[in-house]
Amino acid sequence: REISNKEQKEMVANKIAERVKEGDVIGVGSGSTSFLAIQAISKKIKEENINITAIPTSQEVSLTCSILGVPVSSLLNLKPDWSFDGADEVDPNKNLIKGRGGAMFAEKLVMKSSPENYILVDESKFVNNLGEKFSVPIEVDPRAVNLVEEELMKMGGEEVKLRLATSKDGPIITESGNVILDVNFKEIHSNFEKEIKLIPGIVESGLFIGYPVEIFTT
Ligand code: A5P
Repeated sequence: REISNKEQKEMVANKIAERVKEGDVIGVGSGSTSFLAIQAISKKIKEENINITAIPTSQEVSLTCSILGVPVSSLLNLKPDWSFDGADEVDPNKNLIKGRGGAMFAEKLVMKSSPENYILVDESKFVNNLGEKFSVPIEVDPRAVNLVEEELMKMGGEEVKLRLATSKDGPIITESGNVILDVNFKEIHSNFEKEIKLIPGIVESGLFIGYPVEIFTT
């Protein structure tokens, strides 16, 4: 029998929980895989009476930690010992697209602050070239959307879509008060992450290129 993506996510979630030890400060990613991982971790720390601190990457996961009784702190107070997160796409060089949940800004802050990063993925996330299945999410100050769209088209952007909310009218607003543009590129070059950041108004992109990550899969 084939193992479903959901079961694979549960397996990697349980696998990452095995790494947790007393006193760890752990960066906690967002998305459904990270949610399963923090559930597995909270179960382990209760059973084994371990103390940890979580550094959450979104209000959503912060709330989840609180509900599960996992103490939270922030990057202003602590630096993570290690972090885990999910991804939307992983290429053969461990470059990533992230941000389906729109939390890539905080996710990148935590990843960059953390000496070890584990990316938890089921096999559906592996691609030969970034952009094969997903567009690149880009967080933009709302005043800059027209400028940013123009500049991204010059960089080979083919389609730029303002991400809309499903539970209300209008665009999704991020935790920093920005909007998200989902952008398809003809090709994603390795210098894109840096080039994109030079456009005024762009807060962060979901491209994670060249980060020292370890891919955790089944
Ligand atoms: C959240 O902003 C994302 O970066 C997630 O890590 C990514 O979208 C993967 O999500 P799932 O774990 O739900 O597949």
